[in-house]
Amino acid sequence: MRTSPDSSNPWRLCVAPMMDWTDRHCRVFHRLLSPHARLYTEMVTTPALLHGDVARHLDFDPSEHPVALQLGGSEPDDLAACARLAERWGYDEVNLNCGCPSERVQRGAFGACLMAEPALVRDGVAAMRDAVSIPVTVKHRIGIDRIEDYGFVRDFVATVAEAGVSVFIVHARNAWLKGLSPKENREVPPLRHEWVERLKRDLPALTFVANGGIDSAAQVESFLGRVDGVMIGRAAYRDPWLLVALEGLVAGEGAPAAPERLEVIDRLVAYAADRIDHGTPLRAITRHLLGLCNGLPGARQWRRLLSDPVALAGNDPTLIRRAFECVGEAPRRVPPSAAELGDQGSPSLGAGDREQRLSGTDRM
Ligand SMILES: Cc1cc2nc3c(=O)[nH]c(=O)nc-3n(C[C@H](O)[C@H](O)[C@H](O)COP(=O)(O)O)c2cc1C
Repeated sequence: MRTSPDSSNPWRLCVAPMMDWTDRHCRVFHRLLSPHARLYTEMVTTPALLHGDVARHLDFDPSEHPVALQLGGSEPDDLAACARLAERWGYDEVNLNCGCPSERVQRGAFGACLMAEPALVRDGVAAMRDAVSIPVTVKHRIGIDRIEDYGFVRDFVATVAEAGVSVFIVHARNAWLKGLSPKENREVPPLRHEWVERLKRDLPALTFVANGGIDSAAQVESFLGRVDGVMIGRAAYRDPWLLVALEGLVAGEGAPAAPERLEVIDRLVAYAADRIDHGTPLRAITRHLLGLCNGLPGARQWRRLLSDPVALAGNDPTLIRRAFECVGEAPRRVPPSAAELGDQGSPSLGAGDREQRLSGTDRM
């Protein structure tokens, strides 16, 4: 079955929740590249939220909308309390993590091991839905350990949907709960995207978002004909300019023109200046930008400058602009003519003039 991409469906392009990666600065950056993508926070556990610094966990920039808070937890009352906080803070969605395989998360009895307890997940999301009016969604795997049975994930979804949840983000591989690190669990268990398509065929009233190993515009286009949406994780982080191409696929008519890289740089400099005024170190922002110039001559210098502790120590937001002047696509400052110079002598040259352009491409 092929469905036509529905430009009113808010889940057609999502950027995955990624611990330590998709923090608020990363999400602001991604938003500059894709006005329509739905952005997900890193997972926040219910104990961290209920007993920790709520503002530190939940504050975000207004430009991030639409943005979803991902929760890790399993106790219905706690999930409901955290969902309430998410709504009060202005999040557009609250998502429950049923896909994380880490041992620490298993000790807390949530994440992927919840797939073995669909009734508990149903009760948890029912409590969340009772507590808020924003959408409650679930992100899960297609199985755990060696369960290689499509019926397992179909029954999981059908049970959870009894609570009224209608959006399922499916990382289309099993989570092996013993013996693999979280990183290996994103690479080793085989991908079965066809199971996401099968879920859509079997439960067509529900919204299914495919996730796992999707890293090109061609792949996204093909998925959007078969499922309701795609969620991109590592590819968006490592090669963020991909989001510009994906935005073009999902934005529909009347979408603004794709941004120029320079425009993005200028907005990042302004954002960084504002955050630095609020006490954020520049490196907390630049660490997410390293992949922005992948494939362009000078990308190596861009990365080097934006991760150089000495350069970053000055907390000068214009470092981002100066790093971009090392990149082939950056406009070179044209040296002023003798007439323009008059008798004022030589102007100092910008970094773009000093740097030798690298030939060829280098990727992160
Ligand atoms: C560094 C990193 C951290 C992650 N943290 C989370 C998380 O907090 N919550 C979650 O549901 N998934 C997390 N994931 C998994 C991603 O959301 C996604 O499901 C997975 O990477 C597969 O998608 P991809 O192949 O497009 O990267 C993480 C992935 C990475 C690479």
